[in-house]
Amino acid sequence: MGFSKNFMWGGATAANQCEGAWNVGGKGMTVSDVSTAGTVSDPRYTTYITKDGKPGKAIMFQELPEGAHRAVLDEYYYPYHEGIDFYHHYKEDIALFAEMGFKIFRMSISWARIFPKGIEKEPNKEGLAFYRRVFEELKKYNIEPLVTIFHYDMPVYLEEELGGWGNRELIDLFEKYACVLFNEYKGLVKYWLTFNEINSPILLRNYIPNYPKSRMKEALQILHHQFVASARVVRAAHEISPDMKVGAMLGGVCSYPLTCNPDDVLATQKRQQDDFYYCCDTMARGKYPYYAQRFWEEYDVKLETKEQDFIDIQEGKVDMITFSYYSTGCTTVDENAEKAKGNFTTGAKNPYLQYSEWGWSIDGKGLRYFLNELYGRYQLPLMVVENGLGAVDQLEANGSIHDPYRIAYTREHVKAMRDAIHDGVDLLAYTYWGCIDLVSASTGEMKKRYGFIYVDRNNDGSGTLKRYKKDSFYWYKKVIESNGEDVD
Ligand code: BG6
Repeated sequence: MGFSKNFMWGGATAANQCEGAWNVGGKGMTVSDVSTAGTVSDPRYTTYITKDGKPGKAIMFQELPEGAHRAVLDEYYYPYHEGIDFYHHYKEDIALFAEMGFKIFRMSISWARIFPKGIEKEPNKEGLAFYRRVFEELKKYNIEPLVTIFHYDMPVYLEEELGGWGNRELIDLFEKYACVLFNEYKGLVKYWLTFNEINSPILLRNYIPNYPKSRMKEALQILHHQFVASARVVRAAHEISPDMKVGAMLGGVCSYPLTCNPDDVLATQKRQQDDFYYCCDTMARGKYPYYAQRFWEEYDVKLETKEQDFIDIQEGKVDMITFSYYSTGCTTVDENAEKAKGNFTTGAKNPYLQYSEWGWSIDGKGLRYFLNELYGRYQLPLMVVENGLGAVDQLEANGSIHDPYRIAYTREHVKAMRDAIHDGVDLLAYTYWGCIDLVSASTGEMKKRYGFIYVDRNNDGSGTLKRYKKDSFYWYKKVIESNGEDVD
């Protein structure tokens, strides 16, 4: 048993990382627009003006000084401002996706293109028209769009004036925004995802040194609002068009115990619960899981809720589960164990795995394991909506790019999906992350390239933006043509 004939092969992007045109077509400013460029060793910053009018910067995800306002400052470079200019190149890019044989393309909508501040009464027509053009272009090639409604791209106004997702007013605003999309694109878009990597507010505690307990309290309150918002949106989509399928999207935390010490095993189980299942259980089963109380107590959390929230969460269970999967990590109680980086699955270093240039483990078999874990738990259809290798590529004088490392990485993951399907997992789609080179979310670099399509753009913003086909482009085309049979 291999991939079904309806299996959807494709690729994935996000608006802020590829569209560019940050202040074009009536778009409002988002938190992405004030993110500087970093590297694997230097952080990205958020730039701002203090309440006394002084320019400043805070490491991405850290809090800004009280009263500061996000601002674009002359002395910094902001890689998201132009991205890879998908906004103006979408026809050419979609034609290349079609040439590879894509059946599905994951993209996100920037909230601020539709509602520049997030609070307007009427949507911005130019923003709606832009995405309509993109969907119509995809339709020309029979490529199904898979649309993320919120991919880390918050209108600044909502963050600063309303206090972001900590404020429950955002639930209504989000529902309104999503319903505009559902009504507008009914018939054009069937597959939707509510929040990209919804578990990310929890995961931040693994990244920010000395993460204060108070921020975890906030994170869990934020998540409560997002669960309600997501559920209401799932329900609304089904009412607007019974054809629509709406999925949960999570950062795929897959962690192994570093040793068979029962303490490591228990620590791993707890970590999976807190970092991943807390969100996934709630969205798939329509209620908070049994260990939620234990989790809340650990951070002294008393959620502010309304009775109706629990009804909404129950009525808005997702149709499918989707996740990003780049690497796996190991969990241990041994504080001296060697540490490793990773997308979300950080922790101890796994001696059995290879690591990428950015220090993320490469673990194809882990994907088979994870798919089985998820399907076993939920029996809901799954999609792998992000997976890929960020690496440095060399553009040769003749326009070719030889990227056997990317082919090797993807091959292992395609095989793992095939094995998981053979195990009985219901897997609907695979959208390779950054199918076209785009700006890295964690580092803001162009140098960390994922694409099957190379974009001539450099870390400093130089380059022609010309697109080139990498060796992996031809390889993926063959994989799709053979429906996953020929991966050599
Ligand atoms: C995921 C995000 O966490 O990882 C993407 O959803 C991101 O937006 C991807 O780009 C890869 O991370 P990075 O930092 O290599 O771009």
